[in-house]
Amino acid sequence: MAQEILAEMKKVFEEKFGKAETRAFFSPGRVNLIGEHTDYNGGHVFPCAISLGTYALVADRADNMTRIYSMNQEGAGIIEFEMSGLAYDRDKGWANYPMGVVKVFEDAGHKCAHGFDILIYGTLPNGSGLSSSASLEVLTAVILNDAFCFGLDMVEMVKLSQKAENTFVGVNCGIMDQFAVGMGKKDCAILLDCSTLEYRYSKLALDGASIVITNTNKPHSLASSAYNVRRAQCEHALNELKEVRPELATLGEMTNLEYDKLAGHISDHVERQRARHAVYENQRTMEAVQALEADDVQRFGELMYMSHVSLRDDYDVTGVELDTLAELAWEQEGVIGSRMTGAGFGGCTVSLVKDECIEAFKKNVEDGYEKKIGYKPSFYVANIADGTHKLN
Ligand code: GLA
Repeated sequence: MAQEILAEMKKVFEEKFGKAETRAFFSPGRVNLIGEHTDYNGGHVFPCAISLGTYALVADRADNMTRIYSMNQEGAGIIEFEMSGLAYDRDKGWANYPMGVVKVFEDAGHKCAHGFDILIYGTLPNGSGLSSSASLEVLTAVILNDAFCFGLDMVEMVKLSQKAENTFVGVNCGIMDQFAVGMGKKDCAILLDCSTLEYRYSKLALDGASIVITNTNKPHSLASSAYNVRRAQCEHALNELKEVRPELATLGEMTNLEYDKLAGHISDHVERQRARHAVYENQRTMEAVQALEADDVQRFGELMYMSHVSLRDDYDVTGVELDTLAELAWEQEGVIGSRMTGAGFGGCTVSLVKDECIEAFKKNVEDGYEKKIGYKPSFYVANIADGTHKLN
């Protein structure tokens, strides 16, 4: 598959830029198994990188311009930008992601001495919540680090990529997506403590089951504004808790019991629910990883179910499409667990499904979903992949 994609990309590169590329790169997407809306609350996440992602072919240019073309955005044509003094430019559309990375590199003292011709091709479905933007950001960081020998390690590049998304693109995301994309490891999920960035890899032994991603194919959502509202609600709840526990730095520091004792100090009942999700989901994530590592896949599945319910009832980020997919999945034979993954409001669910049941799972979920929602979902059986890297 990768070889066919690269062969096709080489042809397109030649057509668009009139020369051959000199280097190739791949950057994965990610799926989060559990630990949702915990990263910006100082909690834990448990994502993995997947083999769907973003490819780049690259050649140096002698001048300070970059010319970039995406085979997924043919209508946008070749987009050009200077390698210094960049600012967000709406007219440049998707190219703002790589531009943002160039800008944060420059601000951090890693100045790019020349530009590039770059061809991009992504296999992640658009708007699916599988982190196509983080994939492109970390990809850009690795291309720059490689070309100019900046000597940055992957965690530094992950942080710069998140900064580009926060400050240049203007989406106030946490660190999970860029971390999973950059630090992914074949056949492993990553348990990441988002307050310290301590992490460890956990080999995924799923007892004859696979990770099935189901895309709601929900057309558009107001995900980024609703996302920022959730963040603000959690921050406000934390500030009220700090009035009685001044040393508390994040919701991720609390146990469920501590939270239950202090919850009455949060004045708004909606904010109380948001904070409860953040605290309980973090504890659930740690328990889930322990269960998985003790070969208790069933318990892991139960915790996935509880995670979805909490995201539905306390965090209110699921919506009818994700709820329908999850409810249908829970009814199917051979399903160990299923929940929404990513920010929510649309996007995908992640399910652990026994291998011999995957075909029936797809058929039944597709039929039930189409009947209720009016269009079909899509399915991808995930291969757990390595993080962003140079090919050849
Ligand atoms: C999006 C954000 C992440 C994380 C998830 C929810 O994917 O980019 O930082 O907050 O939502 O878990």
